[in-house]
Amino acid sequence: MKIDPWSSTTYQDYARLRDEFGIEEFSENLWKDLPHPHRLLRRGVVFGHRGFELIHEAIQKKKPWAILTGLMPSGRMHLGHKMVIDEVMYYQSLGADIFIAVADIEAFATRGYSMAETKELAINEYILNYIALGLQPERCHIYFQSSHQDVKDLAYLLGKKVNWSQMVATYGFEGATNMAHIFSPLVQTGDILHVQLEKFGGLRPTLVPVGVDQDPHIRLSRDIAQAHRLYNVTVTKDNKIGVFVKVDTNVETLLDNAEKILKKHGFTDLKRITDYKAIYLNTATEADIPLVDEALAQSEPGFGGYGFLPPSSTYHRFITGLTGEKMSSSKPESAIFLTDTPAEATKKIMNAKTGGAATLEEQKKSGGKPDECMIYELYLYHLIEDDNELRKTYESCKNGTLMCGACKKRAAELMERFLVELQEKRKEASGKIQQYHK
Ligand code: TRP
Repeated sequence: MKIDPWSSTTYQDYARLRDEFGIEEFSENLWKDLPHPHRLLRRGVVFGHRGFELIHEAIQKKKPWAILTGLMPSGRMHLGHKMVIDEVMYYQSLGADIFIAVADIEAFATRGYSMAETKELAINEYILNYIALGLQPERCHIYFQSSHQDVKDLAYLLGKKVNWSQMVATYGFEGATNMAHIFSPLVQTGDILHVQLEKFGGLRPTLVPVGVDQDPHIRLSRDIAQAHRLYNVTVTKDNKIGVFVKVDTNVETLLDNAEKILKKHGFTDLKRITDYKAIYLNTATEADIPLVDEALAQSEPGFGGYGFLPPSSTYHRFITGLTGEKMSSSKPESAIFLTDTPAEATKKIMNAKTGGAATLEEQKKSGGKPDECMIYELYLYHLIEDDNELRKTYESCKNGTLMCGACKKRAAELMERFLVELQEKRKEASGKIQQYHK
C-alpha cells in the first residue's frame, strides 16, 4: 500500500492504514483531559497521530506550541476542507500560535493552476470562508508559499539531507515527473519546520493537523528534522541511555556542551567516550529521553544547528461525498460547497446515498444503517454538536423509528441555517481579506 498525496483515492480501512504506516491511535487519554475537546476529536474522526504527546504536554503545562497547516487552493471550498479549519480554530482557542500556508507553489506544480489563479482562489474561496467560519486573522499568520523567503530557503537547504531514492520510495516519482512537483514536498517541509526558527517563535512543539493523505509529507518532515539534529539521544545495546554527537566538526565542544546540560538536569553519573562521540548516562531511563533530547535541541542553534523538535501530526478521516464516493470539487453533486445556496444544498441532500432499506416496511422492521449513511456523516462531522442528540439520532435510525425522508429534511434545515449564517459572515469578513492581495 502507498499513500499518494496527489491522487484521488478514497480510504476505507483507517485502522489498517494506521497500522501499516506506523501511525499511532489517537486514543482517549490524548484528548479526554483537554479543555472542551472538539467534536472531531471526541468522535474519532481524528483517528491517528504521530508524536501528539508533545502537544498534550505543552497544553497541560501551558508551554508555547504552534500549529502549522496548509491549504491547497484547487477548486471551491467544500465541507471536506472545513474540517481542518474547525480543528485549527479549536487549537486557536487553546492558545496555539497559528500558521497557515497557502500552497500556491504546490498547486502550480502539481495541479496545473497559474500562480494568479491560485491566489484569487485562495483568498476569495478559502481565506474568506476561514474568517467567516470564525478564524481570527489577527491572531494567525496566513502566508503564501511563493512569497515566503524563509520557507523557500529552508526547503532548499533542508534538501541537503534527502536523496532521490528516498523521494522515489516515498512518492513514487518517475523520470517524467516535473522538477517543481518533485521539489514541492520540500517546500511543505519548509512550511512545517520554519515555525521553529528563532524569527518565528523558536523551537517548540508544532502540530500539523491534516488528512491522512498528507502522511508521506509528515514522515519526510520528521525524518528531515531528525537528520539535521546535532545530537541523538537513544537507548544503547546494553540498555543505557546514550547521547551521541552526529557531526564530525566541533565534537569536543559539543560533548562539553552536552555534559554541562546533562549535569544541570541532575544526570551527574556520566561516562564520556570522546572517540565514540558519546556520553552514556548511568542513571537515566528511557522515560528521561524526551526531556534530555529537548534540552539538547534547545542548545543546537548556538552551534550552527537547527535543533528542530520532530513535528507532531494528527490525521482525520475524510468525509464521504453525498453520492457515496469521495467528496470532491470536481464532482459538484458529491460535495456541499460553503458558497452553495440553501436550495442547491437541499437538492444534494435529498439525492444523497443513505443507509436506508429498500422499502419503508423493511426499514421499519429491521432499521437503517447509520454507519453507511451520508446524512449521518453530515450530522457526525458538522451538523450536530450535542453528543446526546447525535446518539439519539443514531439509535432511532437503527431501531427503525427514524425514516430517511424526515432525517434528510432535518439535515437540509440544519444545513440551510448554517449556509445562510455563513453567507452573512462572509459579507462581514470581506473587509478583512484585502491585506492578502498584496
Ligand atoms: N499539501 C497540502 C494539501 O494538499 C497543503 C500543504 C502545504 C500543507 N503545506 C502544508 C499541509 C503544510 C500541511 C502542512 O492540501
